[in-house]
Amino acid sequence: MASLTPLEPGFAARIEGVDAACASDGDIAFVRKALIDHCVLVLPGQIIDGDQQADFAARFGTLDAYENMSGDYARGMRKDLLNVSNLGDDGKPVGPGDRRRELDMGNRFWHTDASFKPVPAHLSMLYGITVTNQGGETQFADMRAAWDSLDADRKELVEGLIAEHSSTTARRWLGFEDFDESNPAVMGRVNHDLVRELPETGRKTLYLSAHADHIVGMPVPGGRLLLAELTEHATRPDNVFTHTWQASDLVIWDNRCTMHRSRPYRADRETRQLRRASTVAPEFAACDAVGVQVPDWKIEAAA
Ligand code: OGA
Ligand code: MN
Repeated sequence: MASLTPLEPGFAARIEGVDAACASDGDIAFVRKALIDHCVLVLPGQIIDGDQQADFAARFGTLDAYENMSGDYARGMRKDLLNVSNLGDDGKPVGPGDRRRELDMGNRFWHTDASFKPVPAHLSMLYGITVTNQGGETQFADMRAAWDSLDADRKELVEGLIAEHSSTTARRWLGFEDFDESNPAVMGRVNHDLVRELPETGRKTLYLSAHADHIVGMPVPGGRLLLAELTEHATRPDNVFTHTWQASDLVIWDNRCTMHRSRPYRADRETRQLRRASTVAPEFAACDAVGVQVPDWKIEAAA
């Protein structure tokens, strides 16, 4: 029998009694409803291989695919699974400076998955294969509460603004510059409304991400500072749930109403191996920003 225990008031919950390897339609409906209410779910003690994880995720929506990812990211997985791991081909942790750490290090910034794609991620499901003894937690911020707790004048300022997202933004910040310019999946830029409404509840949510580069129609410095200010607001400790991993945890989150990040760990000493599947959010598809005009008062307010 499926049961739910809230982990923070109104945000994040633990689910027991659902086996991802053989979930009933009733279990799927239970998880779906719990995601709408709590945004982040922890399902401990799941014994699933990659195919079972992908099959489970596919019951919630169309799986996101990583076929345009370079071999470094695919790392031997099926095209709809991501290997989030610090292991090299030889099965040993890769050292600092290794290109494979780019993805894992990029995950240390607060972000929502695939916000740089025309159709970004809806649910992500991360499975703990090998987890760390120290550090390596995953943190989640409630972006509905982040919107609700904004001052009225900030709400008025950000409503209607559009951010341009790119997969290179966070990586450039880390100092990586050698991108494959011919790969449209890497170099693509898309626009997303900064404030979105969740279709299931009508609640508003701030759609922020480390992939957000600037505000369309605003001078870059003011727009970037606004994005930084909103991120700081959204990730105040009282708005954050921290998940400390146990092996066989399956953690599911809704990217439309959360941001997440990973925490540091001794990647030279400890193995951390997680596996991710994501579904897509067509209702959160990128928007057109041609001819967007930001009113002068907003530009001045952000300057
Ligand atoms: C991800 C991600 C965080 C982590 O896989 O999308 O951001 O803690 N992972 O590894
Ligand atoms: Mn992520």
